[in-house]
Amino acid sequence: MTVTGRQVSRARIAEIAAREEQGYRDRTPKSEALFQRARQSLPLGVASSFQAYDPYPLFMGDARGSRITDVDGNEYIDFDMAFGVLAAGHSHPLLAEALQHRVANGTCYTFPVEDGIELAEEIKARFGADLVRFSNSGTEATMDAIRVARGYTGREKIIKMEGGYHGHHDDVLVSIQPPRDLMGPTDSPTTVPASAGIPRSRIAETVIAPYNEPDAIAAILEAHAGEIAAILVEPVQFNIGVVPPNPGYLERLRELATEHGAVLIFDEVKTGVVLAWGGAYEYFGVQPDLFCLAKSIGGGIPIGAFGGKREVMGVIETLEGSQHFAGMGGALGTGIEHSTIPGGATRVAHLGTFNGNPLSMTAGLVTLKQILTKDAYPRLNAMADRLTEGSQGVLDEYELPGYAINVGPKGCVMFTPGRVTNYRDFIGLDSDLWAASFFYLANRGILLPPGPDDQWTLSVQHTDAEIDRYIAVFREFAVELTA
Ligand SMILES: Cc1ncc(COP(=O)(O)O)c(C=O)c1O
Repeated sequence: MTVTGRQVSRARIAEIAAREEQGYRDRTPKSEALFQRARQSLPLGVASSFQAYDPYPLFMGDARGSRITDVDGNEYIDFDMAFGVLAAGHSHPLLAEALQHRVANGTCYTFPVEDGIELAEEIKARFGADLVRFSNSGTEATMDAIRVARGYTGREKIIKMEGGYHGHHDDVLVSIQPPRDLMGPTDSPTTVPASAGIPRSRIAETVIAPYNEPDAIAAILEAHAGEIAAILVEPVQFNIGVVPPNPGYLERLRELATEHGAVLIFDEVKTGVVLAWGGAYEYFGVQPDLFCLAKSIGGGIPIGAFGGKREVMGVIETLEGSQHFAGMGGALGTGIEHSTIPGGATRVAHLGTFNGNPLSMTAGLVTLKQILTKDAYPRLNAMADRLTEGSQGVLDEYELPGYAINVGPKGCVMFTPGRVTNYRDFIGLDSDLWAASFFYLANRGILLPPGPDDQWTLSVQHTDAEIDRYIAVFREFAVELTA
């Protein structure tokens, strides 16, 4: 499908972008001062390079519900929600109360707690899983799931989709947004590192496939017969705007993984417990062998998790062919006399000082059992549809080149004339138009993620009035743009 729109004057876009960026600077002098100070101590002036953007990031003071306030005292309706972490909203009262109690009673034991069992049981129920383990971030969850898949299959290569982001470990920090001249052929993209410092040997283990092209996956599986441990996919590509799977795509991946003995891993770090009570698994009705969670399951406290079928997750207990584990090998599964596995490992190691810490477990439990309950989703979806329809109405009325899209309570305006089905379409996005809109909206109290590759996320604490405010400001932007 092609979305048409009038040609918006480039000069007009540049003029509005420059004016709004200046307005941003005028409103946020304390953020700028903190940024200058931060640069003396933190590379790029931030703790994660994702937080850096030009001219400088807002420094935030506090947040509650759907609102966030910067250090200059400007209040925003938060549609970023911490890169999609906060489907529960900021500091939900139920969470704040439970965490106060937890903080007063110890936040880290490195002994297990009952809340961890209950949270695992809840995740199992939502995702149709047999076993679950906890980590501290989405990065750890995908890293651990890949190791489990490799341990289970005895194979080393993985398939990752071009344009997909799965965290910052070496195996997956490739072909995130590769430059045009390096990305290679459409059907068999080149594996392009997204960072310096990644060994060539790691890159050789990650085979890149175009998203939404099942035939390309089939061809890769044939070409690497018996070598692919896992197919890793984000069910909706949420790191290039909002790119849903074509009908039948996830089902076909399921079939191909089974046919070729590869583990199908759904990265549900953004989709899990957000698209639906049971995440993308429930939303699309396709069951992977393993899934990864993080972000929203903790309600704003760091957490990660992965889980799936007993047969696959069971390798954390014992690998087929091993018989005993004890002592140091009890944890690592190495150096055990009775192992028949090359190298002696008897199990896949999954470790972490903070895994299952009581703070994260309580946060997860309250978030899932008391806030993101089944009855939260109809309202979240209705608000998202309202925002998408309102935004689309503005795009249509002013004939802007772009379209509004959401999947569950996550959506965005894609500023591009054609539908995006994979990363190569996404490259056509009008980033100047996006930037003009970002600063225009921010200066009027509507905060979006600071990049065209991310999207808005609604929380249970947003209101229809806030959605309507967003649409009204977006309309003002369209009026000025086309005046
Ligand atoms: C789909 C997906 N997977 C994994 C990650 C990594 O999660 P974290 O930043 O918690 O390490 C992200 C982060 O944005 C993500 O969007």
